Amino acid sequence: MKVGGRDTTTIWCEADGPAVGIIDQTRLPHEFVTRHLRDVAAAAHAIRSMQVRGAPLIGATAAYGIALAMLEDPTDKGLTDAARLLLATRPTAVNLRWAIADMVDLLKPLPAAERVARAYRRAAEICAEDIGINRAIGEHGVAAIAAAWRQKGERGPVEILTHCNAGWLATVDRGTATAPIYRAQELGIPLHVWVDETRPRNQGAALTAWELREQHVPHTVIADNAGGHLMQHGRVDLCLVGTDRTTAAGDVANKIGTYLKALAAHANDVPFYVAVPSPSIDWTIGDGVREIPIEERDPREVTHIVGRLSDGTIGRLQLTPDGTEAANYAFDVTPARLVTGLITERGICAASRAGLSSLFPEVCRASVHEEPVVRRRG
Ligand code: MRU
Repeated sequence: MKVGGRDTTTIWCEADGPAVGIIDQTRLPHEFVTRHLRDVAAAAHAIRSMQVRGAPLIGATAAYGIALAMLEDPTDKGLTDAARLLLATRPTAVNLRWAIADMVDLLKPLPAAERVARAYRRAAEICAEDIGINRAIGEHGVAAIAAAWRQKGERGPVEILTHCNAGWLATVDRGTATAPIYRAQELGIPLHVWVDETRPRNQGAALTAWELREQHVPHTVIADNAGGHLMQHGRVDLCLVGTDRTTAAGDVANKIGTYLKALAAHANDVPFYVAVPSPSIDWTIGDGVREIPIEERDPREVTHIVGRLSDGTIGRLQLTPDGTEAANYAFDVTPARLVTGLITERGICAASRAGLSSLFPEVCRASVHEEPVVRRRG
């Protein structure tokens, strides 16, 4: 996507050395800062501190983290230690586990001397695959936007509500939930996006608003609680969100607050779509509410807020009385029954085991209790 008019991805391998470049998303929207990851510890820190965030980008960063680890120590121990370090960074996005397993499965049988080059190559492939997946999600998902446009008699912009940032910044490029939006924009379908601010870290207000502004997509930031009101008054044609982990039965874990939006959408007959790249599908579980681990973060993200102060500096303000207890659940699970459709790189399907297996038949599951057989890609 464009930053200041220039094509940019969110992660890249530096041409003149082994370092991996990232955009430090903790500085956005007020400053555009890039950083170099030079070892696996820096990659783990970038994921944990949310310099990089969003399920697909977490996976891509972990893949490069393994490559950086191989530079330091290409032995089996180096590989195992790196995998363990990266896996412990954030629990909910399954792309992390997927990318680490992909890298470990690939590197383990190779002699140590071959591991560095192969690891960098595979990390680059994972990034390229992410871009391809997101483009395909855009091609399929635009049908939902076009349908809403036709239903409105092609009058007025299609009003889309999104939550958190499932955009370009959460992936390597294009985004997942934003991919159909960018495709619709290319096709000339008029759009307007309601952007949930997404407390407590404000990924909507800070990141999605910044990203949509850079791409010239009309949008309005709303308080998280405004969505129900807008849906009740016919101001939302469809909801379009991303996912950190979708189960084989179609339950969707995404940023905290997504479930409430799905309930409001269901109550108001507003279609609720989830953009799901296949590395975000956890084929090993069915019941998302019981089985998906929900990250709990520092309560200070709730009691405090970060923003630009009137003197231009970035500061942290306290919102609550001194000593107030706060809980910070970072994700919730939307049950499949509230989801209109899953937009994958292979098409749109029902949020159900049957829907997903119609698009991904190679993932065989004889029963819920049986281990799935997942054919490796690439
Ligand atoms: O805590 P974050 O910012 O990593 O959470 C991100 C989300 O919840 C996104 O919606 C999700 O990862 C999908 S990204 C394409």
